[in-house]
Order: sequence, then structure tokens, then C-alpha cells
Amino acid sequence: MSALTPDLLRELVAEARLAPSVHNIQPTRWRLLGDGRLALVDDVSVRAPVADPAGHDVLVSHGAALEGMSLALNRRGFAITGMTTIEQQLSAQFAVLCNFAIRQGVAPDPLAGHVASRMSWRGKYAASPDDGTSVVQLAIARDDLICISHRPTIADIAGWAGQAEFSFIRGDDYRAELLAWMRLSPGHPHYLLDGLNRDALAMNSVEATAAGFVLGGLFKPLDRLGLAALLLADSAKTASASAIVLFCRPVGEDPLTTGRHFYRSWLEIDRAGFAACPISALADHPDFNDRLRKLGKVDADLRLVNVFRVGRPSKPLKPRHFRLPVDQLII
Ligand SMILES: Cc1cc2nc3c(=O)[nH]c(=O)nc-3n(C[C@H](O)[C@H](O)[C@H](O)COP(=O)(O)O)c2cc1C
Repeated sequence: MSALTPDLLRELVAEARLAPSVHNIQPTRWRLLGDGRLALVDDVSVRAPVADPAGHDVLVSHGAALEGMSLALNRRGFAITGMTTIEQQLSAQFAVLCNFAIRQGVAPDPLAGHVASRMSWRGKYAASPDDGTSVVQLAIARDDLICISHRPTIADIAGWAGQAEFSFIRGDDYRAELLAWMRLSPGHPHYLLDGLNRDALAMNSVEATAAGFVLGGLFKPLDRLGLAALLLADSAKTASASAIVLFCRPVGEDPLTTGRHFYRSWLEIDRAGFAACPISALADHPDFNDRLRKLGKVDADLRLVNVFRVGRPSKPLKPRHFRLPVDQLII
């Protein structure tokens, strides 16, 4: 496969890295193999073990990166072929998760043009009565999405999201890990590179400083006073969404495949003119997962993998991506 030159690989990786990853940890690396195949490599030093103890979200993130690579190839008339998913340890830090060849000649993918504009929108959504119906249409087009657009039910789910998130935030290890991935001041050396910075979190400097204190040393006293939950509450944003979308995939599916569909679903949302943000806590918390499964009548053979809040952003989106440099992602 001589088509894949080092220069082309750099271009492809620059686009593939725009895929979402849990906490923006970006665990995916790429390696060009001697036979011209491309390997997706897991950097095992990049993890969020408290938020993601089973490592499922890391694999979903790798799957999203794989889909990102597929879309970058598609824009250049190439497609992935001959996928092999045998795990192979390269070193203490790196393990190949899959490798594939590249073939020429493929129909344009309508989602490829949305890679640059998709982003996590963590602000409020604009009130727009018909939008719920449009998100329903979008969900009907994909059989892995279930849309809830009934306003009182969205308000209930916003309350559940607050409870689910706070139940995790109460864990000392969870807060420590979250803070370690937060870049709350532009002076942080990784501010533009990875993790969650205050621009991505839609926080101003005062809010970001306050969040640092509330999640840090002040958490316990504030929690004793019953104030921590109030100060960290995100429910109003969820309640302003036009719809809550349940992302459900077959039980036992390869998480890389799940991740590819997770990214494609999010790109479909962008294509329909909406913005979204996952609320993993709702899927990760067994009680709320169960409640949502019942509410959405999710079939027993499907796993509720994640939950999106979806709507039109309250102000025009300025797409931005905080990512590691391409050179660091090719090994
Ligand atoms: C598996 C997975 C779970 C995620 N869960 C959450 C979440 O619970 N809350 C949130 O705000 N963002 C969540 N995200 C979004 C990431 O934080 C986001 O994709 C990353 O910071 C990169 O930013 P971008 O989406 O704006 O490009 C999740 C992403 C993935 C892939």
C-alpha cells in the first residue's frame, strides 16, 4: 500500500484526532506498519481508571478515533479494508488494538464534512418548540438512537443527571481524577492540548476558579452544608435541551464498533444543525440506567451505552478542538 506516505498519514491523523474521547484523554496512537497497513495503537499510560474502571469508555474513544480515520480516508477517496483486531503488546506503554489496509475508490460519506464542526456543547440550549420533533426525526433515521422530547420528562432526566453525577463526584478518587484532567487556567501547560479546559467546559474565569475550589479542598465542608451539589449542578443546562437521546448498541458488541457508531451518531446530530453533550453518569449509574431503559423501552438485547443532551446552542458555535500535536500521535 504505497498510497499511505508519511505526509498523508500526518494529514489523516490531524483529522482523526478530532474524534471525541472520554475527558479528552486522547488514548489513540497510530503506527504505519512495514507492509503498508496502518495500526491503531492504545497508549495504556492514558487512562481515567476511576471514571472508567472497566476501560469501556477508553475503547469507545478508540472506536471514535478509528471512525475519524475512516472519515479522513473517505475525504481522500480511500476506505479501510481487511481489518484485523488482534491485540498485540508493542511495549509497556503501547499495544496495537487493530490494523487494516487501505483501498482506493469509495462513495463520499456525508458525515465527513461535519468532523471539523462537531464539538461538545456544555452551555445552555436555546428554547425552540419544534426542535424536539426534528431530533425525533434524526433518531428515527438511526436504529441505535431513542429520542425523548417530552418537556416534563426532560426536566425529570435533568434531575436524575444531577443526582447521578453528584453520586460519582462524592468519591474522593473521582474528584481527584477529574481535577487532574481539568485545565482551569490558561496557564496550565496542557491547556490547549488535552483534558477539559474552561473554554471546553463553557466556564468563565470566575466559574473555573470556583469549580477548582468546590471540587478540591472545599468539597467536604460544602457537602456537609448541602451546598456542593447546588454549586456543581448542571441540571438547568440539561433541562434546556430540546431532547435527550439514548445511544443503545447490541449487548456484547465490540467496543471499537460501538465507538465508531457513537461518533457517527454525534456527527449526525451536528449535520442536523444541533449540538450535543454526553451525560455518561446517566448510563454509568445502574439505577438511572435502569430508569432510562424503562422510559425509552430499550430492548433487552441492547445496552444503554451513553446519553446525549441535544439542542440548538444558545449562542453560535465557534468550533474548537484542544488536541495533542500530530507528531505525538504517530509512533
Ligand atoms: C465515551 C465518552 C464519554 C464521554 N462522556 C462525557 C460526559 O459524561 N460529560 C461530558 O461533558 N463530556 C463527555 N464526553 C465528551 C468528551 O469530554 C469530549 O469529546 C472531549 O472533551 C473532546 O472535546 P470535543 O467533543 O469538544 O471535541 C465523552 C466522550 C466520550 C468519547
